[in-house]
Amino acid sequence: MRHFSKRALDIQPTGVRKMFDMAGDDVISFGLGEPDFQPPKVAIDAFYEAMKAGHNKYTTTAGLPVLRKRIAESWSELCPNLDESNVCMTMSGTNALLNIFATLVDPGKNVLLPEPYFPLYGPDVGLWGGEARFYKCLFENEFVPTIEHLESLVDEDTVAILYNFPSNPTGATITKKQRNELLEFAQKHDLWLITDEVYDRIVFDGEHISFVGCDDERVILINSFSKTFAMTGWRIGYIMSANKEAISQMIKIQYYITACSNDAMQYAVLEAFENASDYPDQMCLEFKARRDLICERLNSMPGVQCHIPEGAFYVFPKVDVPGLNSEEVAIELLKGGVLCSPGSAFGPSGEGHLRFAYTISREDIARGMDKTEAVLRRLRGE
Ligand SMILES: Cc1ncc(COP(=O)(O)O)c(C=O)c1O
Repeated sequence: MRHFSKRALDIQPTGVRKMFDMAGDDVISFGLGEPDFQPPKVAIDAFYEAMKAGHNKYTTTAGLPVLRKRIAESWSELCPNLDESNVCMTMSGTNALLNIFATLVDPGKNVLLPEPYFPLYGPDVGLWGGEARFYKCLFENEFVPTIEHLESLVDEDTVAILYNFPSNPTGATITKKQRNELLEFAQKHDLWLITDEVYDRIVFDGEHISFVGCDDERVILINSFSKTFAMTGWRIGYIMSANKEAISQMIKIQYYITACSNDAMQYAVLEAFENASDYPDQMCLEFKARRDLICERLNSMPGVQCHIPEGAFYVFPKVDVPGLNSEEVAIELLKGGVLCSPGSAFGPSGEGHLRFAYTISREDIARGMDKTEAVLRRLRGE
């Protein structure tokens, strides 16, 4: 009898895709978690030039030393002692996640993960036989977990905690005080602290608060150029840690997952670092204007309450339509010409919320909000 692994049979498509599958071509889409910008032109040109120059081969498993060194330098203010040996290039943040969990998780062990979540976290832990144990990031606490709640979940089989600020799906960020408390929690229980900071360059009103530079032995950073340089389709990211033993274990695993990242693309990313370093700031200005627009519109709608997110490009309002759950509201909105994601696609605490990605023009946001308001007023009988 031909056989599929239990692993493959058990894993489910994410709830985010469901709305896309139901959508027609003419909807205004707040569904996509990727910048609607192209990568910097200098990077595209450098990619092509690198291929013409013969950079079409395997690189070392960890990636080009010159790029890894440049990445390490970009964090030097927070962590001055990093060099290329602290960085492993990956084919995206998605690849980095799988690689990290493969390195840290054994069957019977558990990992503390945020909820509402980026939908890959739980299944990625499960693929290696670990248990995903979700901590709640609730609207009432500005989507930041309480230490009391974390304490109620941790046990002797917990090997790691993952934090994701700025967050997908909530857009939440943390203060230095909150960062220190979350760090102390990981230290107290001697956990690996995995920090997914793929939105570190999309922060609006203050500085990005990172875990990098906090505890050299413990902290493992996931980052990606998908959002920083609008390169989602290129698939390139990295893992960084001051803990060289952790990085060398991950490089070993990386060999078996993708062997290495893409040769020419690494030169293109290097070029973006050198000659388009202000590119993320330019994108960020536009995202901020959109955030202000969408939050103002949402907060003026009946039954809608929305925090003003400080980072990423998502809003995660509470939407109250009596008698309908978040998926049913999202389906009604889709019928009214607006695609967004039901909060429940990001875990049970997302119920009662919708996620809007403001990765479309301000004109489209305004039109989409008109439609959203009309549907919500009708559903609420107003
Ligand atoms: C929180 C978070 N982490 C990681 C990723 C993975 O990004 P990529 O695989 O494009 O690098 C995403 C993508 O949306 C994300 O939102």
